[in-house]
Amino acid sequence: MSIELKGVRKRYGSVEVVKGVDITVEDGQFLVLLGPSGCGKTTLLRMMAGLETVTEGKVYITDEDVTDVLPKYRDIAMVFQSYALYPHMTVAENIGYPLLLRKTEESAKQKAIVEAAEKVHLEPYLDRYPRQLSGGQRQRVALARAMVRRPRLFLMDEPLSNLDAKLRGHMRAELKHLQKKLGVTTVYVTHDQIEAMTLADKVAVIHNGVIQQLDTPRNIYNDPANLFVAGFVGSPQMNMIRGVIQNGRFSSVAADVHCQTMQDHSDAVMGVRPEDLTIITDTQSSQIGTIKARIYSLELTGDETIVTCSIEDKVEQAQIVVRMPPDYEEQIDAPVEIAITSERIFFFDDEQGSRLRDNSEQALVNDTAMSAMS
Ligand SMILES: Nc1ncnc2c1ncn2[C@@H]1O[C@H](COP(=O)(O)OP(=O)(O)O)[C@@H](O)[C@H]1O
Ligand SMILES: [Mg+2]
Repeated sequence: MSIELKGVRKRYGSVEVVKGVDITVEDGQFLVLLGPSGCGKTTLLRMMAGLETVTEGKVYITDEDVTDVLPKYRDIAMVFQSYALYPHMTVAENIGYPLLLRKTEESAKQKAIVEAAEKVHLEPYLDRYPRQLSGGQRQRVALARAMVRRPRLFLMDEPLSNLDAKLRGHMRAELKHLQKKLGVTTVYVTHDQIEAMTLADKVAVIHNGVIQQLDTPRNIYNDPANLFVAGFVGSPQMNMIRGVIQNGRFSSVAADVHCQTMQDHSDAVMGVRPEDLTIITDTQSSQIGTIKARIYSLELTGDETIVTCSIEDKVEQAQIVVRMPPDYEEQIDAPVEIAITSERIFFFDDEQGSRLRDNSEQALVNDTAMSAMS
């Protein structure tokens, strides 16, 4: 089952919180809506479910216009941030409730309940009541209740947000496995970029009610459409340095980088990820470019050292982060030279945040636009 939004807008009074969104989720696809709190993710999901009216635009489920169709006729299972369990029912009764409504035969119902409980590790708790469970356990009951329904469409709103880190990792893997096995079209809302990148076939990055980029996780990471996407996805975050592009070089107070194919631009931001940088010694050099910095802090995470350095940017004092091997050591405040080790450098307009593409890329983008129009 596919779901599609066309030109969807949502206004509360005079405030527009969803500003013209087009999304198509193909049958069996796992789409993640990713963005900061308040960007309109929950509103979008509720409009898909029919729980919220659409101010403008259309919602289609498998080509049928369901914009004004009630939620109960949409064959959708939802899991919310707040999991709304029935307090007077046990875990088993809560999980089995959708099957009770469908008048499923008793032994088949019991089997489905146990199966779903196993998937979310709740078998020992089937006889308990919601008040006797932790927040994370309650959330898993809500997940299991959505699973037993075998719906044609899953809509999930931050369903793992109340779980501790270890369980969240485990449930992430379970969810992905299950979704692929059942082949149920899924739309999943999160503000957690790691969750988005690991779960999704496609990610829609949203900011202020507008889709910034709708793409595969790989392309979102390797080819961000603008400064917002570049900064939102990746941990530690992409480094941003303000400077000037002139005669095929990006220069700032501390940085000097080759970018032969880029056009001159006076208010540019260069973006480079921490894994594409390394701190070098006096005898080493970089073909691509270097940045002069001072060590600010070192954090050993186990398999690597996250090195934060301070630099002078065109505008202000800034920080940049470099991923180094676990045995890297240096004194705080020591001057260092950072080399760029990969061609994966991005340029943006400082004011608009739009991506500045080099001449060859620009030609490619125009080609694609032309063929999309023809
Ligand atoms: N019922 C409502 N009335 C007025 N404003 C609302 C209502 N629901 C949500 N909003 C506003 O719409 C914006 C988007 O909210 P929401 O979709 O919940 O964001 P997200 O899920 O991305 O955090 C927020 O600014 C929120 O305050
Ligand atoms: Mg929300």
